[in-house]
Amino acid sequence: PAPVLTIDGPSGSGKGTVSRLLATQLGWHLLDSGALYRAVGYAASLAGIDLSDAEAVTRCAEHTRIGFRDPGAGAETRVLVNGHDASDALRTETCGAAASAIAAIPSLRAALLDKQRAFRKAPGLVADGRDMGTVIFPDAAPKVFLTASAAERAQRRHKQLKDKGLRVTLVDLLREIEARDRRDAERAVAPLKPAADAVVIDTTGMPIGTVVARILALLPR
Ligand code: CDP
Repeated sequence: PAPVLTIDGPSGSGKGTVSRLLATQLGWHLLDSGALYRAVGYAASLAGIDLSDAEAVTRCAEHTRIGFRDPGAGAETRVLVNGHDASDALRTETCGAAASAIAAIPSLRAALLDKQRAFRKAPGLVADGRDMGTVIFPDAAPKVFLTASAAERAQRRHKQLKDKGLRVTLVDLLREIEARDRRDAERAVAPLKPAADAVVIDTTGMPIGTVVARILALLPR
């Protein structure tokens, strides 16, 4: 099978940016698994589905078409939900919270399992998420777990949203991120934690380029 490099970690740890840079540098495919959970949360909300209704949410996941389009030139991937570009809506903390709520549903996680494994193709895959190294690709090597202080993660997310023209206060964001971290770490199914064989990198105060170089150094050459 094609090699897989897994990048797991909490919100704002830099996984998204780092994974995109790594995939570009290596010429590998990229799986943004969080976007799948966000897209299902978004589609379910649009359809008026109660997010605590496990069966309805799972059915919604089975019927939602999720596509990724790479605009090229290093620009961020666009996410298509049932054919329409929902990228901007998906980045909001409302969608993050919806994703985190439904991510605790075991049947939904099971429904997304094969969809995620299908991204593993030659020449390789960079898989970004929370359970990439623990559940989805247990045989991946190397596995990386990125962390950073909650304050720094909130600041990064704040800047990212501001650049997109979205207004949200830093205190609100910090509170939301801490609540989401807690829910992700405490849930019964696929709780957020590093795989036993993951290399943990604390990115607090670390430039993105340094993080990328550290990870590239872990790859066999
Ligand atoms: O970018 P950020 O880390 O804030 O969020 P994300 O990676 O887009 O993930 C949004 C939510 O989806 C997380 O809070 C998790 O609850 C859930 N998720 C998950 O359970 N498993 C994954 N592999 C990816 C995301």
